[in-house]
Amino acid sequence: MAKTVLVSGGSGLVGSRIAEILKNNYTVLVPSHKKLDITDKRAVFAYFKKHKPDVIIHAAALIDLNEAERERGDKEGKYWRVNVEGTKYIAKAAKSARCYLIYISTGSVFRGSTKDPGPYSESHSVTPLRNNSWYGWTKSRAEQHVKGAVLRVAHPIKKSGIRVANDYVHATPALYRRGKLYPMFTDQRIQLTWIDDIAKAIEKLIKKPKQGIFHVTNPDWVTPYDLAQHIIGDKSIQKRSIDSLMRSSDIPLRFHKHNTLDVKKTQKLLGIRFKTWRQAVDLALTN
Ligand SMILES: NC(=O)c1ccc[n+]([C@@H]2O[C@H](COP(=O)([O-])OP(=O)(O)OC[C@H]3O[C@@H](n4cnc5c(N)ncnc54)[C@H](OP(=O)(O)O)[C@@H]3O)[C@@H](O)[C@H]2O)c1
Repeated sequence: MAKTVLVSGGSGLVGSRIAEILKNNYTVLVPSHKKLDITDKRAVFAYFKKHKPDVIIHAAALIDLNEAERERGDKEGKYWRVNVEGTKYIAKAAKSARCYLIYISTGSVFRGSTKDPGPYSESHSVTPLRNNSWYGWTKSRAEQHVKGAVLRVAHPIKKSGIRVANDYVHATPALYRRGKLYPMFTDQRIQLTWIDDIAKAIEKLIKKPKQGIFHVTNPDWVTPYDLAQHIIGDKSIQKRSIDSLMRSSDIPLRFHKHNTLDVKKTQKLLGIRFKTWRQAVDLALTN
């Protein structure tokens, strides 16, 4: 019989595509936020008891860095309640139901420094709160509750479907077409994660469950300016320095200049080669 896989955050950019792919091989449950609010401990335990999933892909989270920063330090705030408390309930319920937990995390657990700019390995220490964004910190605290697999990803992208307009490579040309593209950083390194690669890693882990941290994104990186040139190809796009923006910002910790992930270990362990940023962009944008 096919395993039952529960996907939280299934109405989101990442969860929706993962659920779509997993449906080819598994019985997939995709409750809405309303049906399964992860901050409601009783509802979470009741859901696991009723549906008995074999695996949960936990992709539900709040992800707006600016909004999160306004709640910095507030453990009653929704970022702490959803990202940390919600994950704690999911992890406890999964344990009591003997369900394998795969948690979707982020490269924003790192904010690094010029002296130690990454790419960071799975065993590298996460950035402490005093130097990190509140979002990054809530995600790294959530990771600590996970007895299962933590998949750290960066700027997830896909070809089409739910919330695709929010992803980096669709949002950038859309802003450009409306004349609203902001100046692009030339001194930040970013990675893009082809969401189908996350699904590939998940399928490997479902077949042969492993515990620990896995980095799932491009083996290379790009600057936002070079990425915009690749997608749009207009030399008049303005350049900007993230260093100068951080110096003038009221919330400098919101910016992650150094958070690239080293994927060598995960690629080897799972036997997958993740798409390079160029391959991922071209897959996402070709018809
Ligand atoms: N997007 C990125 O750039 C990025 C980068 C790195 C890592 N990630 C990670 O990838 C994962 C998925 O993010 P995403 O991009 O798919 O975000 P998204 O599009 O904003 O989706 C978030 C999902 O979480 C659900 N959710 C929020 N609060 C909930 C609650 N209390 N109970 C149940 N569901 C709740 C949302 O449902 P409603 O919309 O119905 O409220 C939505 O389905 C997250 O763990 C995120 O940290 C994302």
